Amino acid sequence: MTSGSILRSVVTGVGGYLPEKVVTNADLEKIVDTNDAWIVERTGIRRRHWAEEGQFTSDLAVEAAGKALAAAGRSAADVDLIIVATTTPDLTFPATAAIVQRKLGCPIGVAFDVQAVCSGFVYALSVADGFVARGMSKCALVIGAETMSRLMDWTDRGTCVLFGDGAGAVVLEPAAGQGTTADRGLLGFALRADGTKQDLLYVDGGPSSTGTVGKLRMQGNHVFKHAVINIAEAVEGAAAAAGVAVADVDWFIPHQANQRILAGVAHRLGVSEDKVVSTIAEHANTSAASIPLALAKAVEDGRVRPGQLLLMEAMGGGLTWGACVLRF
Ligand code: UT7
Repeated sequence: MTSGSILRSVVTGVGGYLPEKVVTNADLEKIVDTNDAWIVERTGIRRRHWAEEGQFTSDLAVEAAGKALAAAGRSAADVDLIIVATTTPDLTFPATAAIVQRKLGCPIGVAFDVQAVCSGFVYALSVADGFVARGMSKCALVIGAETMSRLMDWTDRGTCVLFGDGAGAVVLEPAAGQGTTADRGLLGFALRADGTKQDLLYVDGGPSSTGTVGKLRMQGNHVFKHAVINIAEAVEGAAAAAGVAVADVDWFIPHQANQRILAGVAHRLGVSEDKVVSTIAEHANTSAASIPLALAKAVEDGRVRPGQLLLMEAMGGGLTWGACVLRF
């Protein structure tokens, strides 16, 4: 590092993984009172992927992480920090991150989970930035991985059609920057939580309360009303923290909950929907996995290129929400 320069956490590799099993809206018509037209019109979702029996969140995470490491030109042996954002861990403990460490064959290092539901990936990036930009990690894996299908109540058509399974991962490595917005890496965050809104979106079980896993419960229309306002505010907060203008962002990589939320946020920010990466039709809502999955897709198809300014944002159970600015 030259004098006056700072360490930045730079994304050097991205990878996504979706389980093979595809479930269409027509497939769901056979198990719950719903129809393709309603799902497409109200959410934009056309299909989702489900993990097979015996395929766990850690398995999806390992696949995504392997692709991210390959893209970064790194191997499992290089990894010294693993953070998994998930609300569907394999077990109550150990952390899914520790299971991923074992399955990947990474050396002894740091491994833990972050639980902020759909905002988990943005939260996890901020935690990882705390390690990487302080020189405490040379090669970090930040993974969003979920098997949301395991939390569904198959009699509740208001929720069970919305979610899917998958994983996305990034490799973060330190690099010297000049402390300007031209630097590659994570440039700014805005993270929020409002625990008074728990009843709008939660799982009705847990180890210390019911002793069961529980099922996802949501007052969707109430969550919807908060989503657009909260996300837009967080986007502006992250842009301000990074010192960039929202108008300068090349690509918005949002959490994929509903196409109407993506459109509403874009409209509120005065941003063209052409700049918003949407995977909702194919992936549905994969909670903490949806942002890195969308990023992986946009990198793979050549839309997102090195040096571009990205804005990732999410809102979910908690309520939690947040946004972050990354120069890719
Ligand atoms: O990722 C975490 C954050 N989550 C979100 O951001 C989700 C936010 N919420 C939403 O995306 C939307 O509120 C939903 C997609 C969940 C629901 O859309 P909505 O336009 O708010 O519908 P609604 O819940 O107000 O329900 C409208 C109607 C109801 O029928 P009535 O009472 O008007 O006769 C529902 O029973 O749609 C009915 N409905 C369905 N119909 C067919 C609800 N779910 C279904 C379904 N198929 N799957």
